Amino acid sequence: MHDRKLANVAVFVSGSGSNLQALIDATKAGILSAKIVLVVSNRRDAYGLQRAAGENIDTFVFKTKKYDTPEDAGQALLDRLGAYQVDYIALAGYLRLLPAEVVRAYRHRIVNIHPALLPEYGGKGMYGHFVHEAVLASGDKESGVSVHLVDEIYDHGHVLEQVKVPVMPDDTPETLAARVLKHEHKIYARVLEKLIKGEYEINNG
Ligand code: GRF
Repeated sequence: MHDRKLANVAVFVSGSGSNLQALIDATKAGILSAKIVLVVSNRRDAYGLQRAAGENIDTFVFKTKKYDTPEDAGQALLDRLGAYQVDYIALAGYLRLLPAEVVRAYRHRIVNIHPALLPEYGGKGMYGHFVHEAVLASGDKESGVSVHLVDEIYDHGHVLEQVKVPVMPDDTPETLAARVLKHEHKIYARVLEKLIKGEYEINNG
C-alpha cells in the first residue's frame, strides 16, 4: 500500500452500519487517512449496504453457502478483497467469523469493535443486546468499548484500545447500548488510523 497515499479499507457489516457511517465520515473529515473501497455483508438486507450504496462504495454480499466448501468461500472472499487492493479490514457489527484464509492473509490488519470491556462479555453469541443485558445483570458499574485485532476466535484478539462508559442505575439494555455506541463512533476511526500509521506495538496478538 506504500505507493498509495491512502490505505484501502473494507468494512464488514451485518446490520445498521452506524459504525461504518462513522468511519466514512472520518475519511471525509480527514481523521482517517483511508479510502473505504468495499463494504461486505453476509446479509443482503443489512442497512449498512444501503449506506454504502448511498456513498458510492461498492458492496459485496458474501454468503458462504453459495460455495462448495468453506475453503472455496474463503478464497472467493480473498479474491474479492484482492481485486480492491484492500489493505485493512474493519468489522463493524459483522456477526460471522471471517474465513481462516482471510484471517491468515490479513493478520494484524483486521480490527473489530465490541460494545463492552473485553475479555468480559465477549465470545460467540455475545453481540448486540445480549452484551448489554449481561452487563446489567452483573451489576457492573462500568461498561465500555473495545477495539481489538481479529484472530480465529470470536472477540479474542489483542485489544488495541478501550474506553470506559458508566452504567447508570436506571439503564435498560437500550439506553446503555446508545451511550456505548456514541463512544464507538468516536474511537473506531481513531484506532484504525493509529493502526494504519503503525502506532501500535503488536507482537503475536
Ligand atoms: C456495535 O455495537 C458494535 O460494537 C457491535 O455491533 C454493533 C454494530 O452497530 N460489534 P452498527 O451496525 O455499527 O450500528
